[in-house]
Amino acid sequence: MKFFIDTADIKEIKDLAATGMVDGVTTNPSLAAKSGKKFVDLIAEICAIVPGPVSAEVTALDFDTMMKEAAVLRKIAKNVTIKVPLTPDGLKTCKALSDDGTMVNVTLCFSPAQALLAAKAGASFISPFVGRLDDVGQDGMELIDDICTIYGNYGFNTEVLVASIRHPMHIVEAAKIGAHVATMPPATLRQLFNHPLTDKGLKAFMDDWAKTGQSIL
Ligand code: G3P
Repeated sequence: MKFFIDTADIKEIKDLAATGMVDGVTTNPSLAAKSGKKFVDLIAEICAIVPGPVSAEVTALDFDTMMKEAAVLRKIAKNVTIKVPLTPDGLKTCKALSDDGTMVNVTLCFSPAQALLAAKAGASFISPFVGRLDDVGQDGMELIDDICTIYGNYGFNTEVLVASIRHPMHIVEAAKIGAHVATMPPATLRQLFNHPLTDKGLKAFMDDWAKTGQSIL
């Protein structure tokens, strides 16, 4: 399973890239706004840190303007993935860009039918939002299961990029289903490392080692 981080915070991206666990980055207009940086510069900065796919979202709602925005964004770096919303114009843009060899991430997916449309439009990634579905009382992970089944039935190459992740169990459950990618907030990636028994065990080992008075170096 590939791990992407869902942030536009450069310091966080640098810190986590150094762990070797970051395969890509996703951003959205809300995260970009929070960064306070000029969008094109922000994406260039992220692409220079992480060599894997970096999602940059168009902000237009119509096909012609989405294509113009995508032309600007794809020029920033080879690893830019154009992110489009799951709307008729977004999927039309997805098809045109995919046919032209550009990676596209279709975002704001909340149903299996929408995911099927994105795959037919040639998306490289589909982003189903599990946390936001859970928030409204629908099982987000059931959507991941349905999409993986449907894509498997037809051999679609579109990767299932689980988004709106809120906690480590979202990642574990998505991995059990076989989703290709999980994009997570930096704090959630850090949580994956933790287990109280690891801390307890390490402390006991270090205490016993200290008693020997030895040093390996
Ligand atoms: O980037 C899309 C998605 O991951 C947003 O997550 O937590 O705002 O629902 P959230």
